[in-house]
Amino acid sequence: GRRITVRDIAAAKERGEKWPMVTAYDAMTARVFDEAGIPVLLVGDSAAMVVYGYDSTLPVSVDDLMPLTAAVVRGSSRAMVVADLPFGSYQSSPQQALETAARFMKEAGAHAVKLEGGRRVLPQVEALVSAGIPVMAHLGLTPQSVNALGGYRVQGRGQAGDELMADAKDLEYAGAFSVVLECVPTELAERVTSSLSIPTIGIGAGPGTDAQVLVWQDLMGLTARPAKFVKKYFDLAQEMDRAVRAFADEVSTGAFPAAEHSYR
Ligand code: KIV
Ligand code: NA
Repeated sequence: GRRITVRDIAAAKERGEKWPMVTAYDAMTARVFDEAGIPVLLVGDSAAMVVYGYDSTLPVSVDDLMPLTAAVVRGSSRAMVVADLPFGSYQSSPQQALETAARFMKEAGAHAVKLEGGRRVLPQVEALVSAGIPVMAHLGLTPQSVNALGGYRVQGRGQAGDELMADAKDLEYAGAFSVVLECVPTELAERVTSSLSIPTIGIGAGPGTDAQVLVWQDLMGLTARPAKFVKKYFDLAQEMDRAVRAFADEVSTGAFPAAEHSYR
């Protein structure tokens, strides 16, 4: 078996096939998602919150994300692994973006990178694409800009929708192979999706995008207060609570370990 590539992703749009992306931050979950047939795994800078316990994505560094990315690559065999470039690791210049992306590709084995922003990061996108690095773009609610946006809120309403459309078209022209649309009105996401030949990947963008992405801890029910756009497919927090309490009880009563868990 070979890995999913940007050509497979492009072909899916031509065939009108919708596909799922989920985040992953370690080898064992990556393996579960890979074996379930998830074609693209994102090592999101959402690791800042769900792995490292920060309250935004801003504090996480390249050095924080590098070992997580390497683990996801090692844990998977078919999925394309996309590394999120963290805040401050690409905005300064195309050269900075290239140096950071090259580390994720060379040292961690990522197959593509993702960065946030539209026309303001076009020189970066062009430099990466010129170097042969597939780039996933990210528009709408771009969490690395939360302080400038004034909170986690819907983007692209009214006039801002035309700006987002212009950003999306320029990113496609610059060579991005896909674009995440986060927290934008359904109708705008539909318009962008039908105007672009590269796939759109929605999160809080309604049903009209080519793909959908969720943070795995959100879809599995591990997140305390998930956003409106999250659908909870499992109650992992409740199941883990039940299991660890059962373990604790059996330790206190002496029911665990039993003979079958012991060596004679
Ligand atoms: O960091 C992340 O998990 C993301 C996805 C939500 C698109 O950027
Ligand atoms: Na991200």
